[in-house]
Amino acid sequence: MWKKIFAASSLTDSSDGNKVEGNVSRDNLPQHVAIIMDGNGRWAQKQGLLRTAGHTAGVKSLKRIVRTANDMGIVALTVYAFSTENWKRPPAEVNFLMKLFAEYLAKELREMHEENVRLNFIGRLSELNPALQKQMQDAVRLTENNTGLKFNIAANYGGRDELVRAFQKLAAEVQTGNLAPDTITEEDVDAALDTSELPPVDLLIRPGGDLRLSNFLLWQTAYAEFWFTETNWPDFTPELFRQAVTDFAKRQRRFGGLKNACGKYEQGE
Ligand code: IPE
Ligand code: IPE
Ligand code: MG
Repeated sequence: MWKKIFAASSLTDSSDGNKVEGNVSRDNLPQHVAIIMDGNGRWAQKQGLLRTAGHTAGVKSLKRIVRTANDMGIVALTVYAFSTENWKRPPAEVNFLMKLFAEYLAKELREMHEENVRLNFIGRLSELNPALQKQMQDAVRLTENNTGLKFNIAANYGGRDELVRAFQKLAAEVQTGNLAPDTITEEDVDAALDTSELPPVDLLIRPGGDLRLSNFLLWQTAYAEFWFTETNWPDFTPELFRQAVTDFAKRQRRFGGLKNACGKYEQGE
C-alpha cells in the first residue's frame, strides 16, 4: 500500500550531488510516469507507409524510453499499449499488434532482465491469446525479484474496465462478509486495482498531439501532471522524456492544499 506523506518541495534546496537530470534532484523526480504511446499510424501515413510500420517503429521508441527511465532511477513506468477500445480496429491491425507484442517480449525480455527491470502487465489479460498470456506470466516470474524500474505494460486495458473489475472484487468481499460497504475506503479501492503495487501517477505523457486520456489510468491520474507533445510516438526521444521530467520538476503541485505542500508517496503496510 502506498501512503501519502507531505514534504516541502526540494526544487531549490537540494545539493548538486543529488541532481539526476539537469536541474532536477532525486526528490522531485516523478515516481510514476505513464505514457500514452500514440501517433504511430499518423507517423507512418506521413511517410507513405502502412500504419503497421508505425507500430514497429513505436516499439523501438519504447525500448529507448524504458532504458532512459531505468537509468534515471524512476520508480515506475506504465505504458498504454492496447486499449479495451482498440478491438474496434480492423482485424489485420489488431492481429499485427498482438504479434508485435509477442515478438517484443521474446526479443527484449532477456535484456530488460539483465538491466534489472521488473516487468508487469495491467488490463483484462484473460481475453488475450493464451500463448501471449503464458509469455506474460513467464516474464513477470522471471523479473519479479528485480529492483530497478517497475515497467508496466497496459494491454487490453481500460480505466473504466479496471474500476469495474475492482468494484466486482470489493462486492465479492462484501458478499462473503469480509467487508462492510460503509467501511470501504480509497485504500480498499486502490488495493483492488491492477496498479495496487504502484504509487499514483505523477506525470502523464501523451505524444501524438491529442489532448485526452482515452480511458487510461482514470483513478491513478487524479493529481497527475499532464505533458503533451505534437511529436508522434515513433519520433519520441530520450531528450523529450528528459524534457518532460524537467518540466514536471518545475511545476507546483498543491493537491488541493497551498503553496509548497508537495505530496509524496511511500510504501508501507
Ligand atoms: C498508438 O498509435 C498505438 C495503439 C493505439 C495501439 P495509433 O495506432 O493510435 O496511431 P494514430 O493515433 O492512429 O496515429
Ligand atoms: C490510446 O490511443 C490507446 C493507446 C495508445 C494504446 P488511441 O489512438 O486508441 O486513442 P483515441 O482513439 O485517439 O482516443
Ligand atoms: Mg491513436
